[in-house]
Amino acid sequence: MLTTTDAKARGLADLPPVINDSLLALITLCDADPRPDKIDVGVGVFRDGAGNTPILEVIKAAEQRLLDTQKSKSYLGSAGDKRFAQLLRPILLGEHAGDERILGVQTPGGCGALRLGFELLATVNPKARVFLGTPTWPNHPPIIRAVDLEAVEYPYYERGQAAVRFEDMLEAIRSGEPGDVTLLHGCCHNPTGADLDEEQWRRVRDVVVERGLIPLVDIAYQGFGRGLEEDAYGVHLMLESCDEVIVAQSCDKNFSVYRDRVGSLWIKSGSRETSEKAMGHVFQRAREMWSMPPDHGAAAVHIVLEDPELRERWLVELAGMRDRINAVRQRIAGADPRLAFIGRQFGMFSMLPLSKEQVLRLREDDAIYMADSGRFNVVGMGDGQIDRFIAAVVGAMDS
Ligand code: LMR
Repeated sequence: MLTTTDAKARGLADLPPVINDSLLALITLCDADPRPDKIDVGVGVFRDGAGNTPILEVIKAAEQRLLDTQKSKSYLGSAGDKRFAQLLRPILLGEHAGDERILGVQTPGGCGALRLGFELLATVNPKARVFLGTPTWPNHPPIIRAVDLEAVEYPYYERGQAAVRFEDMLEAIRSGEPGDVTLLHGCCHNPTGADLDEEQWRRVRDVVVERGLIPLVDIAYQGFGRGLEEDAYGVHLMLESCDEVIVAQSCDKNFSVYRDRVGSLWIKSGSRETSEKAMGHVFQRAREMWSMPPDHGAAAVHIVLEDPELRERWLVELAGMRDRINAVRQRIAGADPRLAFIGRQFGMFSMLPLSKEQVLRLREDDAIYMADSGRFNVVGMGDGQIDRFIAAVVGAMDS
């Protein structure tokens, strides 16, 4: 994220100080802490019972195959690996996979997809407003600002509960004008873990249709909540009901290929021709930013999804990650009535009912690292650290 200034810098020395990205700064702080029992529930990476983020076995197998068989590393073009997008299609789009008005393209992670999606929306309508519920993933507002669109924030979540402030959400998006955008979290809401239920999705859809809004659904955790199909309910509903839909998808989490940056952007419009034209603009924007997406992670995902046996094994490994998330949630939820809401939420994140001071004290006294907001990653710690984590959090709530 670049920090901007009104003053014209004459040289690098004139640059204003950088406003650090809080999540990335937290990783650095935690890395520098020498205490051996430190707990890192800051950044959103899945860790297993032993506290590691292992490479999935199916990804290891796919990488081995890639090593043995890849004949060239020549350019693939702005669209990246087209077969990768084809293979993802049914997983993400479900019964809409055959809709030829929907086009998808490989991107560097979900972040790249979001940036491209917003670039496209800003090209279509530079005056579009983007409605987004807060709290949201910390990188959403900077990406919207980076394309010069106006972000309109509304309160999404009631702290300390599993509940979404649903009426506030509806009221906010009802004020949207045709062509405005509503940014929706597909599943496993980051940072709150509080998802819309199916009835709520339908009511949001009604407002989106009535007001002529364009939904941009960010789905970075498909398969981490209830299951692959269930987690895509909102995506499918929007595709069924709206002529124009943008979906930013990530494989970083559900294939555990974080640093390889694998995602995709999907565009639905009223006709195939329009979607192709929109994709042309997307390629142009991609060319200006990264030219072509990196291949390695997408190539590995491609191999997994192409091979029926690896694909089955991926589903098992994905279910294993989901089961751990939900088991840790139940364990924390059962420890104190004030934490019970955590058991009714989905995905890696929840927000603890802690003040910033309490969060900082946990950092200082207990070497427990979470975002200042109280957002924590329920699977950021190994099994052996959960009791200490719960005791420290309960102690902080009591203090
Ligand atoms: C997170 O929310 O912790 C992750 O998605 C990492 C990131 O890029 O912010």
